[in-house]
Amino acid sequence: MPFTMAFIHEVQRIESIIANNLLRRASEDTKIGNHFIPKDTLVMFNFWSVNHDPNLWPNPDKFDPTRYLTEDGSKAVKPPYLIPFSAGKRNCPGEGLAYVELFLYLVCMVQRYRIKVEPGTELSFEAVFGISRRPANLPLFIFEKVVH
Ligand code: HEM
Repeated sequence: MPFTMAFIHEVQRIESIIANNLLRRASEDTKIGNHFIPKDTLVMFNFWSVNHDPNLWPNPDKFDPTRYLTEDGSKAVKPPYLIPFSAGKRNCPGEGLAYVELFLYLVCMVQRYRIKVEPGTELSFEAVFGISRRPANLPLFIFEKVVH
């Protein structure tokens, strides 16, 4: 179960399904680091950039769920800068439900099916940007029922 959770965290990081948040307006003059943000400036949080920042993630373009696991593998720890559901007062109210759904759907599928693609199919991380990022070329998946 910790590895499954780590896998979900890593999918959310590397794919950044919501890559940019909605626009926000600074309600007062603000300073973030060395940047001065005057009142009424429109700002947009770039999740993709944080999720691929090499200062936060060693080898950020590598898909590696083990980066969340404790040394003995008994826990998956999500760092505070992984925020696929955003943060603050207007963060996603569906976060708890979405985690339950992601976990249960994934586990139910991999317990019942061996999921494959046609031999020779190239898989890639290439995506189309919109409100959410979607795979540019979704391959045909083959679901082979596992007989227990
Ligand atoms: C993987 C699944 C999901 C992801 C990655 C996601 C992500 C997000 C993000 C990034 C926001 C913007 C938060 C902000 O403005 O700072 C948001 C807002 C919102 N989400 Fe989700 N969400 C997911 C699933 C859900 C589900 C299952 C529900 C409802 C059952 C939901 C309901 C909402 C609503 C109502 C808002 C608007 C909140 C507001 O503006 O006050 N989301 N979501």
